[in-house]
Amino acid sequence: MDNSKSAKRIAQNFRKLHEELDQYVIGHDNLKRALLLGLVAREHIYIEGPPGIAKTMLAELVSAAANLDFYFYQFHRDTRLAELVGDVVIQREKDSQGGELIAQSIRKGGVLTCEVCVLDDISRSPGEALNVLLRILNERQYLQEPIPLLTAIATSNPTVDDYYNEPLDPANLDRFSIQLRSDGLIQENRWNQVKEVIDLYSSNRFSDEIKPKPILNREIFDEAYKVLHSVVVPEAVKRMLIDLLDRFVNQYKLDSSNSLITDRAFLVKGVKMLKAMALTDGRTTVEPKDLHGLAYMTTYRVPEDIHRNVGTLIDESIQRVGE
Ligand SMILES: Nc1ncnc2c1ncn2[C@@H]1O[C@H](COP(=O)(O)OP(=O)(O)OP(=O)(O)O)[C@@H](O)[C@H]1O
Ligand SMILES: [Mg+2]
Repeated sequence: MDNSKSAKRIAQNFRKLHEELDQYVIGHDNLKRALLLGLVAREHIYIEGPPGIAKTMLAELVSAAANLDFYFYQFHRDTRLAELVGDVVIQREKDSQGGELIAQSIRKGGVLTCEVCVLDDISRSPGEALNVLLRILNERQYLQEPIPLLTAIATSNPTVDDYYNEPLDPANLDRFSIQLRSDGLIQENRWNQVKEVIDLYSSNRFSDEIKPKPILNREIFDEAYKVLHSVVVPEAVKRMLIDLLDRFVNQYKLDSSNSLITDRAFLVKGVKMLKAMALTDGRTTVEPKDLHGLAYMTTYRVPEDIHRNVGTLIDESIQRVGE
């Protein structure tokens, strides 16, 4: 297989998917980009934002347009794990001699059968259910059987008192490689986009059910994942990443008391992000600019002021190491 040809085709497909999302959801480019990166890299995504900014809609749209099996689960205070992964079913049957047979099977729940799942209002979940669920999501298998899941998209309203929810604990949050905070178009003063949404809903385009064109399929995701592994990370880019992490720790004094700089996130998932950035741009070699993909990871891993500035910090590391 010619990887560079394949990369170009993959990028073209993902561009089409992005354009399809644009047909229905105005703005939120970061969210759209993060969803595509998450699907390509098979990483989970955590999105925090106020009600009604199209978080759920985007997750549904991307699954429909990508032809992936979708599962939606709404967390509540009494969520039990069985609601998500299914129940063990015990059946009694008569055998041919009239004796009794007891058969045990699992009725698989949505999380075990879907390719994309939305875990809505995850911060309302009771801890016990969440810990086990996140382990399954991370290992992508249940009772030794692989699950078809590509990406779990967890959503949460901002965790402030008014919403009666609690922030995820850091160990759980770290399982979501990609993390975003988003606000509505009105709150962000995006008046041109506000006008576009009003135009959209003033037109009669939405009189029917919203049905995006099915553009991609699972094979493209499998091909993308294969090519992703062979994307090359040049030595210079590795040094830039190390420089950035070094400055996080030694210059900005980020440690476990104020940050979540885990080896897993930045040395393993971070590198995957760089590759996904390259691949969705049609390349099989990472370039320094791909380091900006790390900004999708720092939202809740570093203090807010550092996250807000992370683009500049990345550019500085690129400069310092030189190309
Ligand atoms: N940027 C936008 N472009 C187009 N439609 C939008 C946009 N923002 C909101 N909407 C409309 O508002 C609806 C609200 O979206 P949705 O239910 O997905 O929000 P949510 O962020 O998941 O909210 P909640 O936190 O309450 O679950 C969408 O279905 C869509 O009709
Ligand atoms: Mg929602």
